[in-house]
Amino acid sequence: MVDRRLNPYTPNAGARPFALAGRSEQQEHFQVLVHRLARGYTEKSMLLTGLRGVGKTVLLGDFARVASEIGWRVVEIEVPRADTDAEFRRQIAVGTRKAILSLSTANRLREKARRAVSVLRNFTVSVDPDGKLTAGITFEPAPGEADVGDLPQDLTDLFLSVGEAARESESGVVYLIDEIQFLTRTQLEALIMALHKTVQKAVPVTVVGAGLPQIAKLSGDAKSYSERLFTFAQIGALSADATRDALARPAADAGAQFSADALDLCCETTQGYPYFVQELGYAAWNMARNSTIDTAVIQLAEPDYTARLDASFFHVRLDRATQREREYLRAMAELGPTPHGAGEVAGLLGRTVQQAGPLRAGLIKKGLLYSTADHGLAQFTVPQFDSFIKRVMPTLTVTPMRSR
Ligand SMILES: Nc1ncnc2c1ncn2[C@@H]1O[C@H](COP(=O)(O)OP(=O)(O)O)[C@@H](O)[C@H]1O
Ligand SMILES: [Mg+2]
Repeated sequence: MVDRRLNPYTPNAGARPFALAGRSEQQEHFQVLVHRLARGYTEKSMLLTGLRGVGKTVLLGDFARVASEIGWRVVEIEVPRADTDAEFRRQIAVGTRKAILSLSTANRLREKARRAVSVLRNFTVSVDPDGKLTAGITFEPAPGEADVGDLPQDLTDLFLSVGEAARESESGVVYLIDEIQFLTRTQLEALIMALHKTVQKAVPVTVVGAGLPQIAKLSGDAKSYSERLFTFAQIGALSADATRDALARPAADAGAQFSADALDLCCETTQGYPYFVQELGYAAWNMARNSTIDTAVIQLAEPDYTARLDASFFHVRLDRATQREREYLRAMAELGPTPHGAGEVAGLLGRTVQQAGPLRAGLIKKGLLYSTADHGLAQFTVPQFDSFIKRVMPTLTVTPMRSR
């Protein structure tokens, strides 16, 4: 009898899995990045992109651990859906404040850290007139730094002063920014400009971002810098070997094992999507009657797996859509899991592109679809959403347009 309390699978957003499988390339890249910066070299940072549930947040968490282990300070930011520049400044400031303070000894701020605090104060003046974000730390004003009210310039001043403070303490700072697709173009460009300067001055500060494949379109300098500053790493499904590893290793550590057939079946069912792998592992563990998980157990676990996935992963998203938007999704599903053009989907709904346009825009805004790099195409933001939609809406019906 398998003990449910010892279930080693982690089907939750951002939950670090017991076996972080198949990401050694990205892990190694990050190791190289921070170690090189720590030695005063430069190195490309990373922008991780991929669908929901592939493990972007988990990877950022892993990077946070690696950076902390070598004594770096980590600023973790999750960009909210409707971000404003004021909120963006506030989030950067809160994290940066903690980083600066922890760089210094308990009761004494070192010289560069004192300067960094002054720059931080200027950085937050517009969003925090009472000075709450810098309360309790004394500093001299740093005239002319980070107070021009221009985000790229202010962020650059902040990163440089924080970088110097970090270097003074033989440390570094990494900003881990999750849900970067919610950054406005101005915010993303500001980050890129600021990072560009930190690279030029070789200060130990870097930014790693993660988000949906749809990030703000950049132009001009920001575009060319971003190509030089970042490696765009696409995070997707795990390979079959990595999927087996993600399932077998936690089981082995807890004294159980999968049969080879069972692992093959799991690869097929989950298509290697990390969130699905965790849900299936979780359901299978609870279904097992002894320490061997074979194909019969997986088959028994499948209804439970599907039900949990529907409830936790799919329905929460579908619930945000209106009836007409659901019909739009159903038409997308009819066409299959690949990206589709606006004309194609509208055609299937018997509407014009203009009539269907607001539905498509609404679904993108609600995070159910994203527009891919090839213009005009849209795709589901979660894997296997097409089969889910077909399951809950077996036929494609269309609410007639109201006549005017
Ligand atoms: N490399 C991995 N190996 C095994 N499981 C993983 C891996 N990465 C993520 N997971 C699991 O997948 C799920 C989704 O991870 P998360 O980081 O929240 O995805 P995302 O941020 O891309 O939406 C979590 O349940 C997590 O435990
Ligand atoms: Mg995430």
